[in-house]
Amino acid sequence: MLEVTGLHVAYGGIQAVRSITFHVNEGETVALIGANGAGKTTTLKAISRVVNAVGGDVHFCGEKIIGVAPHEIIRKGIALVPEGRGVFPRLSVLENLRMGAFVRDDKAGIAADIDRMYAYFPRLKERADQLAGTLSGGEQQMLAIGRALMSRPKMLLLDEPSMGLAPIMVQKIFEVIRNVAAAGMTILLIEQNAKLALESSQRAYVMESGEITLNGESAALLHDPKVKAAYLGE
Ligand SMILES: Nc1ncnc2c1ncn2[C@@H]1O[C@H](COP(=O)(O)OP(=O)(O)OP(=O)(O)O)[C@@H](O)[C@H]1O
Ligand SMILES: [Mg+2]
Repeated sequence: MLEVTGLHVAYGGIQAVRSITFHVNEGETVALIGANGAGKTTTLKAISRVVNAVGGDVHFCGEKIIGVAPHEIIRKGIALVPEGRGVFPRLSVLENLRMGAFVRDDKAGIAADIDRMYAYFPRLKERADQLAGTLSGGEQQMLAIGRALMSRPKMLLLDEPSMGLAPIMVQKIFEVIRNVAAAGMTILLIEQNAKLALESSQRAYVMESGEITLNGESAALLHDPKVKAAYLGE
């Protein structure tokens, strides 16, 4: 479904992503793991066209998307949940969810999906009228995921959904991610928490200094000595 070929991204002289190639099949959850500064966020930004790639290609559902305008990406069916979440702080929870559906005009479907988000995240239902900026970090993460799903994407790009959250909140968020995946969503999951990422995905790629150095089935990578030593603290 998503094919990234020889993707290269630089910030001035800094080569943040060096010619990486990977793919995500329809219905799969694929994890991209790696240390701080490895180039994970940059990869997601290049796919979602927030930054320009220097070289390489990205195809989504067979269509070249590397030159597409950033706002067109969401219409193609790709929804990004950015690092740091990016909810609209001065809008309510409900208004944020509605904003997520701006590319749609099926009123009944939107209402049904808002109920579906409330079922995934009962906490958001309780806080429907609260301003998003006053939500806790975990609640904002829930809202960011809910808002992304409201566009009815074909694929979800998640950047560090566990960042800064207490373990119990991380468990809740990942329970929903697994449920969304089980319902058929295609997911590219970026995570520092390698154990959680590998346990929640079918395949994974390991990034180091802008390059993919390892890849394989997540279950196998969990037992890989190099992965264990470098990312699982074992
Ligand atoms: N806007 C920018 N300008 C200059 N350099 C940048 C910019 N954004 C990122 N970088 C650099 O690119 C490299 C990759 O950063 P990136 O954010 O992609 O890493 P990451 O793997 O997501 O790390 P983390 O796990 O800390 O979020 C880093 O060396 C970073 O300093
Ligand atoms: Mg990052």
